[in-house]
Amino acid sequence: MNKIRLMLTFLCLFATVFAATAMAGTAESQLGQLLYFDTYLSLQQNQSCASCHHQKAAFADPLNAQDPWNNVVSLGSDTTLNGGRNAPTASYAAFIPTFGLIEDEGEKLYAGGQFWDGRANTLKDQAKGPFLNPVEMAMKDEAAVIAAIADPRNKNYKSYLKLFSSAYGIDLQTLNLADDVQVMNAYDKMAQAIAAFEQTNRFTEFTSKYDYYLAGKAKLNAQEQNGLALFEGKALCSECHPSAAEVVRGSIVPPLFTDFTYDNLGIPKSENPMIAGLAIDYGLGERFITEKGKFRVSTLRNIAFTPPYGHNGFFATLADIVHFYNTAGDGSWPAPEVTDNVNRDELGNLGLTPQEEADLVAFLMTLSDGYKKERPTTFVLPPITPLQ
Ligand code: HEC
Ligand code: HEC
Repeated sequence: MNKIRLMLTFLCLFATVFAATAMAGTAESQLGQLLYFDTYLSLQQNQSCASCHHQKAAFADPLNAQDPWNNVVSLGSDTTLNGGRNAPTASYAAFIPTFGLIEDEGEKLYAGGQFWDGRANTLKDQAKGPFLNPVEMAMKDEAAVIAAIADPRNKNYKSYLKLFSSAYGIDLQTLNLADDVQVMNAYDKMAQAIAAFEQTNRFTEFTSKYDYYLAGKAKLNAQEQNGLALFEGKALCSECHPSAAEVVRGSIVPPLFTDFTYDNLGIPKSENPMIAGLAIDYGLGERFITEKGKFRVSTLRNIAFTPPYGHNGFFATLADIVHFYNTAGDGSWPAPEVTDNVNRDELGNLGLTPQEEADLVAFLMTLSDGYKKERPTTFVLPPITPLQ
């Protein structure tokens, strides 16, 4: 299967040059950074994007990472409320292409899109959601968010005045909050700034041991090496989480460990009290009747930092989910939450020994950024998800 090559061709259809958007420190990304961390923009002034996507958990939820056995989903600004899905990492999300159909060996497959079910096309579209989501930042409407940005009591007020003006020519002091057109324009630019911040190197480090290994600048130990061989062989992981660098239009693209397609792994319904009572989650099937139970293939970059695992946080540890891949369908697991489309060709019955499962986990641990500070090689990334 060579889904990734297809996907990268698909990525290249879009024309935003990474180098241009990824430059840290533009007015736009500086503004995005302030907005990303600003808790004043939530109902109880206690939550920002970073609450659920914090650098210390590789831009996933640090509370969940601390206790993945109990905290399977994030709490909202109203802390009596929570969503139904595990917060994915925002790192490398910049590379998720817009949602669409791709062709793979004559078959049409859905791919791309932000969120587990791809319902937002771009980072910018995505960033418009959380502020107004009642189980997240829970603001009343767009005007309420802009009002909180343009509020002199906001600690970032002075910077916001300056940056909205220099990045977008918007004067927050004269902006009319009763004028929908002005409010929607400012809201749109706010989301654009956040997306620009999420495209900076901070979210796309490529500094893992594995990146160093690919560049010939680090050696994997015997266990990691064996894990990699299993990942690309007997365990079938790289069928959906490609692990090899590609050359695309003359640029080396380090592997992103996802082909951005959708699958139903047959993960059981969670019995965690936070979400056990919720209706069945059909994933992409909520949008397309033929796709019940499917969720987008996750990146595995930084995976060691972002427990729990799976869209419903069913697996607290990497060892747990690897054991599931090995043994799914053998009767030792509860039934899949959604029985349609369960993939039994590429997982389950892998015949891995306990040692081989452990080796796979050791390999997954080499995908964590921060092995060293700098990227092992300099490269120009090809066009990625457009910002508009
Ligand atoms: C209360 C926790 C919470 C807050 C606050 C929050 N998010 Fe999320 N985020 C989530 C969850 C949960 C999902 C997955 C939801 C789904 O798939 O339906 C998600 C998905 C995402 C994704 C998609 C990643 C992917 O792999 O599909 C990005 C990017 C993201 N959030 C960025 C942000 C930004 C930017 C903000 C602030 C404007 C924000 N989030 C605020 C919990 C949160
Ligand atoms: C058939 C495609 C496919 C194969 C093969 C596959 N995966 Fe996945 N993987 C997915 C999908 C789809 C998801 C998200 C599923 C969900 O949450 O419902 C996922 C999620 C994961 C996650 C959790 C990500 C997160 O952020 O929560 C890990 C870890 C993972 N896979 C590791 C592996 C390993 C290790 C292997 C090999 C043993 C493997 N995968 C094989 C498709 C695949």
